[in-house]
Amino acid sequence: MSTEKNAWQEEVVQRLRGVKYPGFSRDIVSFGLVQDMELTGTELKLKLKLTTPDPAVPEKIGKEIRDSVKGYAAVKSVVIETEVAPPQATASTGPQGIEGVRKIIAVASGKGGVGKSTVAANLAVSLAKSGLKVGLCDCDLYGPSQALMLGCREGVRVEEGTERIVPAKCHGVKLMSMGMLLGDDSPAALRGPMVTRFTQQFLRQVVWGDLDVLVLDLPPGTGDIQLTIVQTVALDGAVIVTTPQEVALVDARKAIAMFRKVNVTILGVVENMSYFTVPGTTQRHEIFGSGGGRKEAERQKVPLLGEIPLDPEARKSGDEGKPVVLADSTTPSGQVFMDLAKTMVKVLFPNISI
Ligand SMILES: Nc1ncnc2c1ncn2[C@@H]1O[C@H](COP(=O)(O)OP(=O)(O)OP(=O)(O)O)[C@@H](O)[C@H]1O
Ligand SMILES: [Mg+2]
Repeated sequence: MSTEKNAWQEEVVQRLRGVKYPGFSRDIVSFGLVQDMELTGTELKLKLKLTTPDPAVPEKIGKEIRDSVKGYAAVKSVVIETEVAPPQATASTGPQGIEGVRKIIAVASGKGGVGKSTVAANLAVSLAKSGLKVGLCDCDLYGPSQALMLGCREGVRVEEGTERIVPAKCHGVKLMSMGMLLGDDSPAALRGPMVTRFTQQFLRQVVWGDLDVLVLDLPPGTGDIQLTIVQTVALDGAVIVTTPQEVALVDARKAIAMFRKVNVTILGVVENMSYFTVPGTTQRHEIFGSGGGRKEAERQKVPLLGEIPLDPEARKSGDEGKPVVLADSTTPSGQVFMDLAKTMVKVLFPNISI
């Protein structure tokens, strides 16, 4: 589109900003879907670029576009031309760094509920506590948890004009959550290609500013979101979280294999929920078995980064929006989280000491 806009273009763009991409609270203009527009007489011709082959999407958008220009006398009819570009096309340049961000790490697992978000939140906050500039990105579209875990009520801001997204700030950590950009529509209704497109746009449009470390909290599994992330962002490494039990280890192996396939370094394995010590005693109960994380780390020839005990304080502080390293870093899990952060600093920034 030409940068010099006529009055009709401004009016049309304004109206198109009211047309939401199906399943999202973002509009088709800020998503960059409108490639070109032309007005011949009273016929408006629009060129849209979509990444999904799903015919329901242009149909729905088309109807909303027509509704949006109703009542605007300069436009009597609308012709829409849609081009479908496969999402891989945008990833063909390969993974890239993010402006201003020194190191990007992903916290991942194969299995759900093993403590990725808890590890990511405590790691991010501990790194910030140690003086680094830290960002945390919740990439779980279907079950975002970081806004809750960091007690963040502040919303994100979309910069007028540039459409870039400015993260919130909580406990000294810049926070961004994909879930914050979704509207009331159920994210479960999103289909594969839409998820891919959204993830790519999201990762490119957030303005993180100057960061030492960006921690990505990945959703469980090795599906569309995870693949898009590893293809879009140049990761400095991945931390794999697992519990000691075989059912979690099997999935952790799949996650490790996915990262290795795209040459992402596995920084190590964190075993979570390793044991439980009844308060006031020294007796350890190995509820999910024992040593699974260590054995897997040895098998994969990667470091075991820590064994985090089951700690009611970790659960409670997460629910209350103050990660345990802030609430009480002397608790059994708090200490391991602090050590984990120190190890990460050593690995990511071998030349600085904290
Ligand atoms: N070491 C721990 N001690 C006590 N509770 C824990 C511990 N680690 C995690 N939890 C609790 O277990 C639950 C699941 O943890 P979390 O949300 O971090 O897992 P996840 O792997 O991110 O889950 P999902 O796969 O759904 O994203 C949370 O309620 C969290 O507070
Ligand atoms: Mg999670």
